[in-house]
Amino acid sequence: MFPRVTLLYRLLAVCVSVTIIMILLQSVDDRINHKPLTYLPAYVKHSMREIDSYGDQGIGNYSNATAQVTSLTTMHPPVNPHNFNFVVNPTTFCSSTRPEYVVYVHSAPKNHKKRQMVRQTWGAKSVCNKYNMRVVFIMGLVSDQKVMNTVKLESNTYGDLVIEDFDDSYRNLTYKAIAGLKWVSKYCSDVKYVIKSDDDILIDMHALMDQLNSTEVKSYGTRNVIMCNQWLRMKVIRDKSSKWYISKEEFPDDFFPPYCSGSVFIMTSDVVQRMYWASLQTKFFWVDDFYITGLLVKRIGIEHKRLNENYMLNARAAMEKFNGDVKHELRFFHVRKLVDVYKMWNTLEKNQNTSCSDCYTWTPPKFVNSTS
Ligand SMILES: *[C@@H]1O[C@H](CO)[C@@H](O)[C@H](O)[C@H]1NC(C)=O
Ligand SMILES: *[C@@H]1O[C@H](CO)[C@@H](O)[C@H](O)[C@H]1NC(C)=O
Ligand SMILES: *[C@@H]1O[C@H](CO)[C@@H](O)[C@H](O)[C@H]1NC(C)=O
Ligand SMILES: *[C@@H]1O[C@H](CO)[C@@H](O)[C@H](O)[C@H]1NC(C)=O
Ligand SMILES: *[C@@H]1O[C@H](CO)[C@@H](O)[C@H](O)[C@H]1NC(C)=O
Repeated sequence: MFPRVTLLYRLLAVCVSVTIIMILLQSVDDRINHKPLTYLPAYVKHSMREIDSYGDQGIGNYSNATAQVTSLTTMHPPVNPHNFNFVVNPTTFCSSTRPEYVVYVHSAPKNHKKRQMVRQTWGAKSVCNKYNMRVVFIMGLVSDQKVMNTVKLESNTYGDLVIEDFDDSYRNLTYKAIAGLKWVSKYCSDVKYVIKSDDDILIDMHALMDQLNSTEVKSYGTRNVIMCNQWLRMKVIRDKSSKWYISKEEFPDDFFPPYCSGSVFIMTSDVVQRMYWASLQTKFFWVDDFYITGLLVKRIGIEHKRLNENYMLNARAAMEKFNGDVKHELRFFHVRKLVDVYKMWNTLEKNQNTSCSDCYTWTPPKFVNSTS
């Protein structure tokens, strides 16, 4: 082709072209995969590389979580310390009842009725017993003492509340999310799957448990799994009147990198542990769903398994879609009216045989003055 060019030059030309192509491909790859992190300050990116280099020996090995966290935070002072204390803490809930599945539900102190809904439907003791699952509610503190007193009574009755001493407000939801990861890591780490939910969600627990036992889900393995409703390119809200308004200073890009709906996601327990540790090294960002399922998941180096067809997140249409779900694909519903959740759950329970003749027993510890 180039008769006058020597073989050496030809080889050189090939090398240069290959290099150029590789650089181009790499930059495309960077744009696809790494753009999300470009707004992070350099020190975060640096500590991230360090944490990544631990691999399985470091943040993946949780044979002694306390020792690991101590050594990790000594070597790498947290950029996002989580210095809150549990003020209501059923520490032995899991160690004494030994579940295989644990659901932690983000709640708020005043949401007593929503918690009752969960306890009477998909989180009922009979359901928990059937699948060897336990449900806890995660929350912070509010200044209204009346509300906190009711919460204390509730905790003494059910023993399923976990309360940490941060202010429970929506700009603090990321603290709630980290509190959940922390509590499960510390007190409930020895389970097959950890499920995060909200208190306005209906979970078809029977269908979900079947699914978690399916060959497809089993093929994902028993580590490094997070399953969720994944959004690939969610727009950042720039409308100043929105509750979810985010300024350009807080987040320059107009789209979020992939992350999940925070309504429900399901993880293997190693993931919970590593995400908690990674949170200590990941700058605080108040949009909790993105922080947890976007940033932290990216940091621990795993990818979402998409369960998008199982979600119905439009509360207005929940009931209609529930009734029209002939393929029985939907498992997670965002529902506005509690009465609708009860109706839907009754339908799901019709063909089930859950009863509590030999249910696990659990005597909640009493927290008398703990929240004052
Ligand atoms: C975790 O660490 C312990 C103690 O250092 C070690 O014995 C064990 O082999 C490690 N496990 C894995 C999976 O790396
Ligand atoms: C875990 O490590 C901590 C701190 O080194 C130690 O005090 C504790 O006894 C260890 N626990 C187990 C179960 O080995
Ligand atoms: C978040 O919680 C912290 C700790 O309780 C508190 O100091 C802060 O005011 C809270 N922030 C908001 C926006 O509520
Ligand atoms: C899980 O699936 C297997 C068959 O694949 C079945 O034998 C077993 O009963 C199932 N377990 C549960 C809890 O559904
Ligand atoms: C439901 O439970 C009853 C009583 O425990 C039992 O007789 C019946 O066979 C069960 N039905 C199914 C579908 O498991």
